[in-house]
Order: sequence, then C-alpha cells, then structure tokens
Amino acid sequence: MPYYSDEIVEEVRTRTDIVDVISQYVNLQKKGSQYFGLCPFHNEKTGSFSVSPGKQMYYCFGCGAGGNVYSFLMAYNNMTFKEAIEELAPKCGVTLPQREMTYQEKRQADRRSRLFEINKEAAGYYYKMLRSPEGQKAMDYFTGRELSAETMHKFGLGCTSKYSDSLYKYLRSKGYEDEILKDCGLITIDEKRGGHDKFWNRAMFPIFDANGKVVAFGGRVMGDGEPKYLNSPETEIFNKSRTLFGLYFARKTRREQFILCEGYMDVISLHQAGFDNAVASLGTALTEGHAGMLKRYVKDVYLSYDSDGAGQKAALRAIPILKNAGISCRIINMSPYKDPDEFIKALGAEEYEKRIQNAENSFIYQIRMLEKNYDLTDPEKKSDFQKEVARMIVLEFPTQLERENYTESVAARFNIPKDALAKYIIELGQSGITSKNKAQAKETRSNKPKPKDDGMKMSQRLLLTWLVEENGIYAKIKDFVGPDDFEDGVYKTVATEVFDCLNNSRPVDTAKLVDMFMEDEERKTVAALFNTTVGELTDNTDLSKALKETLLRIKKNSLELAQKNGADLKSLVDGKKQLQRIERAGFIL
Ligand code: GTP
Ligand code: MN
Repeated sequence: MPYYSDEIVEEVRTRTDIVDVISQYVNLQKKGSQYFGLCPFHNEKTGSFSVSPGKQMYYCFGCGAGGNVYSFLMAYNNMTFKEAIEELAPKCGVTLPQREMTYQEKRQADRRSRLFEINKEAAGYYYKMLRSPEGQKAMDYFTGRELSAETMHKFGLGCTSKYSDSLYKYLRSKGYEDEILKDCGLITIDEKRGGHDKFWNRAMFPIFDANGKVVAFGGRVMGDGEPKYLNSPETEIFNKSRTLFGLYFARKTRREQFILCEGYMDVISLHQAGFDNAVASLGTALTEGHAGMLKRYVKDVYLSYDSDGAGQKAALRAIPILKNAGISCRIINMSPYKDPDEFIKALGAEEYEKRIQNAENSFIYQIRMLEKNYDLTDPEKKSDFQKEVARMIVLEFPTQLERENYTESVAARFNIPKDALAKYIIELGQSGITSKNKAQAKETRSNKPKPKDDGMKMSQRLLLTWLVEENGIYAKIKDFVGPDDFEDGVYKTVATEVFDCLNNSRPVDTAKLVDMFMEDEERKTVAALFNTTVGELTDNTDLSKALKETLLRIKKNSLELAQKNGADLKSLVDGKKQLQRIERAGFIL
C-alpha cells in the first residue's frame, strides 16, 4: 500500500524543478537544453551526468543511473520514497495529508532516522567533550599522535567522559527513550543498573557512511590497555561488512584509485599527509561487501596493510576478494615500518608517494609470499615451489598472452629456468587444469545480450526519445509502428503510455512514467529510454533517413519475433505490408 496517493505524488513532482533539487548536490552546467555535471553515482572526470528540465529526469551516460527527482533523492541520500516526498513537499508548498499512522508504521518509519539522529547527537557530544577541559587527556593523546586541529575537525574526532553513563544521561535529556537507545549501539540498558555507555574513557572516531552520516564509532584506549579499539556493534544503520572508514571523503576526491589500509589511524594519517583517498575496513577482514562498495568508485586499489605477518596474511586474503569484485590491486611496501601511520611519521609523504609508484603487482606479491614457505637450498623444495608457481600461473591467467608474460617476469624475478617453467605450464594446461577466470570469462560473455538485441533496443529507445522531444513526429509514424512493436516489459509499458498521450494530444510526462515502476532497475531503464541521442546528424535528409531506418529496424524485429512466437497469419501479413510501406515511404522532417 503506497503511503501517499498518486495525485499527491504527482503534484509534488510537478511543482518541483529537478534542476533546482539536483543543483544542491551536483555542480551543473547548462549545455543546450540540458544540464551536465559529474555523476554522483560513479567516479568520473568528464561529466556524463545529464539533467533534463524538459523531461524532469536525470540520466548518466556513463553508469546508467537515472530516474526522476524522487529516484534521485532516494539514491543520493539513501532515502525511502516516503522520505523523499516529505523532503520535497514543504519546499513546493504542498501540505501532505496527515494520515494516522499505525503504531507499527510509525515505529518503522521513525526508527532509522532516529538512530541516525542519536549517532549524530553522540558525535556532537563527543566532539565538544574533546575540546573541553574534560577532554584534555584525549586531546593530549591525539596531539601526541601528531594530528592537527584541522585533521581532528575533518574526522569529527572526539572523546568520552570518564564516567560510564554521561552519554546516556545526555541522550535522555534530549528526549530519547530507553526503547530506542538500547538499539543505537552506544548504550547498554541493564534491568538492574539502568542505562550505561558502551564507550567511556576513550578517544572516539566517528564512522561515517558513504553519504557522510554518522552510523557508528570506534573508540581507542588512550595508551595501553585491552581492548585497544572498541567498535559499535552492528545496528539497523550500521553494517560492518559494507562500511569503510574514510569512504565519504575518499569518494569525494573522485580519484581513480583508493588506498586500502587496516586502521583508523592509518586512514587519518594518510589523509593528513595529503592521501585523501585512503580507506580502511573496520577491524574486520575485508569482505565481498567491502569490495562491492569499493567497486562502485574505483577499479584499482593500493593495498597498504601492515607489513607484519598478520598484515601479510590479511593482504593475501584480500587480494582474491578484490580480484573477484573486478578490482585490480597493487601492494605498497612499507618496510621497515609497520603501517602507513608509522611510515609517514618516519619518512614523510614524499617517500610514501614513491612507495605508491613502486607498488608491487599483486600476483608477484602472492608468489613472493609463497616463496617464504620453501627452503630453496633444497632442490626438492625448490622444485615444489617452482611447480606451485606454474600451477598458480595456469589457474590465474586464462590467456596464452598473460601466461607467457607472467612466465617471463616470474622466471626472471624468482630465478626460475624460464624455458622449463614455460614447458611445465603448457603441460599443466594440457592436463586439463583450467583457469578459474576462464570459466568466469565465458560466463560473462554468454550473459551479454547479443549485439542484435542491443541494436534493437537502441532503435526503440531512439524512437521514444524522439517522440518525446519532437511530438510532431508522431503524426508521421503512427500508421507504421505501434506500442506492440516494442519489447515486452518496461519498453512496451512506456511505449503504450507515450503513444496514448500523443494520440490524445496530451504532453508526455516522462518523470511520471518513472513512478509507474517500483524497481530501481526498471526506473533506470525508463530514464535510459528517454535519453538516447539522435547523434550528430546535421541536415534534415540525414534525420529523415535515420527515422526511416529506425522504423524499419523496429518493425523487422517485431515481425521476426511474431513469427517465432507463432502469430496468426493475418497479423503477419499485415505486418509485412506495413514494412513494405515504410520502405517506400519518404519521411520528411
Ligand atoms: P594504533 O595506531 O595503535 O592506534 O592502531 P592502528 O590503527 O594501527 O590499528 P591496528 O593496526 O592495531 O589495527 C587495525 C584496526 O583493527 C584498528 O584500526 C581497529 O579498527 C581494529 N582493531 C585493532 N585492535 C582492535 C581490538 O582490540 N578490537 C577491535 N574490535 N578492533 C580492533
Ligand atoms: Mn598504527
């Protein structure tokens, strides 16, 4: 059951200008009838993100993100549909009808936003505490670790009081009930003792989500003590295996690589030294969820894990996870220092930059780590090592080209007889061991739509975009194609609506069409439908030719499909006739 009626949803949308709303978040420049900017949903250097005031839609030619003003707010601010409309309504003077929410509804609607509020309140409280006399010890601690006031401010650093219930009392004084406080991750409610803070006598690191909202905290003992760090438990708004410390800042740099490290202090030190693309997972090993988050923003990652045994193990675990997510990584060597924080303190930013430039290929790193397990003075162990290297090359690389390149560089780097290694690799390949990537490569290839299908959809998109941009075309094409010529699903639904509007001389409300679909993927498809470029066609003859070709392609495809699906003879004959008529017709634009 939608919460607000379609009429209200439409009224708010039509009274809102998408350009105004999106300009609050994205720097837009007008070009022709459209606005362009850098896409906030993926990393890019050239603006592929377009906003159309005419269509009241946005669309990114780079990543395919798209929709209307509601989908934008939902995607950008991580809002529900209801939250998006409630954000817009007051600004355009629409009073939303007050409906008595059921207790359950109200609770659900409120909970998440109240948990965000509580974490924000707590962050403010800790922040002030650090800058008050009570926070002197923590301030000394941070200063001792060479953090500047600016850095402390950027990361919102704070501290707790040394009493174990001061945040609890503060939040109660702000009106939050135990009922919600018990779930915010910062407070323990005990039947006998009442409410208590989970964090006390600690230096506090707020953890922001990708949109800059505080979702959790890490707290460090000041000095030695156990546990060194304490983190908020997972809550309704905090999913550890999808959260990366520093991501909010790193993504805003729009750099093409991130530096992935292990600790809070590593991230903070790196940012302070100018490497503001550093992120870290939070005291947990890297997960697929983290890799998925990273993949949204970058294709390349520099691993800057601790150089001790534990850090090396963690790196070896992280490499395949990153690779599986489609991220390639290089490993930064920090020896003789333990972690980026210590490295930068000792040698400075310039040296670290050099280490970035010299970062090691992840495969070579894997082999180098492997080598340590073998006693190479023993010919048998040495052979074992070299055979294992061969196996790894076969398993990792599907193409002959990669295998040969890696054979060459690995042989040179690890003193392995090159020809023997190459020969053994060929034997392994023939013995049936296949690369795990080969299977994947095949799979993705067969999943790809056939080029013909793609061209087909392109024609359908082109026609719909064209119809919406130049309503006059409708009269010229309506006798040749109809909604039934469009692909089933989103395309047909949209075409039906577009043809219906134009047939009744109603303007096509593209933004409204987006709201006909509930799924994010469907909404993106609608946005893509209306954002096809007719291309750099200059004079009218070309446009006429393009229109004719578009119609022909759409019609031919729909006829072929009809035939395949066993349509009746009459409709097939009719279709053929229409096709011939298109072939003969001249479309003058
Ligand atoms: P310091 O420089 O000593 O402040 O720490 P670090 O940032 O170098 O951290 P370290 O390399 O020791 O650990 C990496 C990360 O693991 C930390 O930033 C924390 O997120 C997490 N971590 C470390 N110790 C603990 C612990 O005792 N408990 C939990 N839950 N997490 C920890
Ligand atoms: Mn450290």
